[in-house]
Amino acid sequence: MRQSTAKRIGGVVLALSMVLAAPMAQAAAKKAAPVKPIPALVQKDGKFALMVDGAPFLILGGQANNSSNYPAALKDVWPAIKDLNANTLVMPVAWEQVEPVEGTFDFSFVDALIKEARQNNVRLVILWFGTWKNTGPSYTPSWVKGDNKRFPRLTNKDGTLSYALSPLYETTREADKRAYVKLIEHIKAIDSGQRTVIMLQPQNEVGVYGAARDHSAKANAIMAQPVPEALLRKFNKPAGNWNEVFGKDADEFFHAWSIASYVDNIAAAGKAVYPLPTYMNAALKDPLNPEQAPGSYASGGPTYNVIDVYKAAAPHIDLLAPDLYSPGSQSYEATLNFYARKDNALFVAESGNRPTYARFIFSTLGRQGIGFDPFGFDYTGYSNFPLGSTQSGPEMVKPFGDLYELFRPLERVWPKLSLESQVWGVSEPDDHSAQTLDLGPNWNAKVTYRQWQFGMPEWDPENKNGYPEGSEIPSGGVAVAKLSDNEFLVAGYHARISFGAGSANAAKGFILDRVEEGHYDAKGNWVFERVWNGDQTDYGLNFAQPRLFKVRLATFEK
Ligand code: DGJ
Repeated sequence: MRQSTAKRIGGVVLALSMVLAAPMAQAAAKKAAPVKPIPALVQKDGKFALMVDGAPFLILGGQANNSSNYPAALKDVWPAIKDLNANTLVMPVAWEQVEPVEGTFDFSFVDALIKEARQNNVRLVILWFGTWKNTGPSYTPSWVKGDNKRFPRLTNKDGTLSYALSPLYETTREADKRAYVKLIEHIKAIDSGQRTVIMLQPQNEVGVYGAARDHSAKANAIMAQPVPEALLRKFNKPAGNWNEVFGKDADEFFHAWSIASYVDNIAAAGKAVYPLPTYMNAALKDPLNPEQAPGSYASGGPTYNVIDVYKAAAPHIDLLAPDLYSPGSQSYEATLNFYARKDNALFVAESGNRPTYARFIFSTLGRQGIGFDPFGFDYTGYSNFPLGSTQSGPEMVKPFGDLYELFRPLERVWPKLSLESQVWGVSEPDDHSAQTLDLGPNWNAKVTYRQWQFGMPEWDPENKNGYPEGSEIPSGGVAVAKLSDNEFLVAGYHARISFGAGSANAAKGFILDRVEEGHYDAKGNWVFERVWNGDQTDYGLNFAQPRLFKVRLATFEK
């Protein structure tokens, strides 16, 4: 049947208006969507929170292996991040990959990374591998790496040339900064709506091995000049040149100041474009050996002994973070103590991925840590044993994934409590010794390890002093947050926690009033599952599996 012209025109107009209406409605909806605030690190009374989309967020991170920063490798990254139950992927972007030819930039990997992160529902922390990667320039483009004239290496004490670049040259800094700022401009252009990228790390493990500082004529001349005002103020020292003011520490402090100023300059330029929280990671100085000489560890990096130098030199760096590969709980905990400060939020920027490292999430959270980011999580088949796991597949991920499964539903709840209330957390020491939590004047708690779920180990009829199988390898921990005066949120694994009366309640009888097992829903509401009582609480709360409780404590008059 032939349509009349009017009908046909009417149909076209209707169709056209429908075609136009859809994008207009979409545009209106887009316009109406509230702008998500840019991530920020906030501080309140010496406590910190990383704000993401305007609310505290706990980074349950996984860092990919170094060479997984290409689109082809991403397919092997996402399944590991999923098994890990991570909410954040930490991934390098290298100067050599974005500016292979000077002045020509390629951000195709960043595009793929951000797109796929959104598809996988995780956030990103991006690491800039530039002038420094494990102190060396291996990730700088070829046109930088080989050009000692334009991008000078530093001079060792014996006059030989170091592998590392000197932080004293504007040419190097400006070239690095230009590429870094281009990266930030690109992130801003594609991500200021969704905020998939939540934090940045300009450079990776800065410093130098084999020397305490640059010993070139240029460096010597600067060292003979007065120490900058900001540093004198920080250390409350009278004016003088570097040796006069800092004596035996002068070389290391000078190098730390030089690197911190260099990276701060770059970070400031990035923040002027798009002010994401920015941190630097540290290759560690042995926390149990203060005599260790600079150069035998990465001298000039943000090691614990120069945190104050960094605080004075680098106001655009939000926090300094340890890379924890220290075998041994004493050493691990000592480092956490050094980096959890009133002026420095604790973030475990890297940790080994051996199973025994997983438990340190508890003591990180107990020090109000804003996140935990073990290293080497992808299924590319690579393992960095002996630093990390011998495994490179799901067996490597599981010990961390089990604990992240416990904390993932708390990714908003825990950091809010950490900022606004009080938190405690302990990890099983290598010697399995018991720990006490001082929960204030009213309550305390004892945490013990290698327990059965009932009774005492020595009751084992078959084997006196028999412990649960596998418990000789430390894996436990407990994290506690105060919900109200008498109520606590308790998360644990492979541990027993026994609450008791504190000094203010010493004259009274103690009772576990109510122990609820449950979980938090997506909106952050507590969902009650069941009450634990009887055998399940008579010998403390025993975490044979990762579990979450709300515990109410009470007393009775004696
Ligand atoms: C610390 C570095 O920051 C990482 O990139 C990596 O090289 C590990 N060490 C070792 O696997």
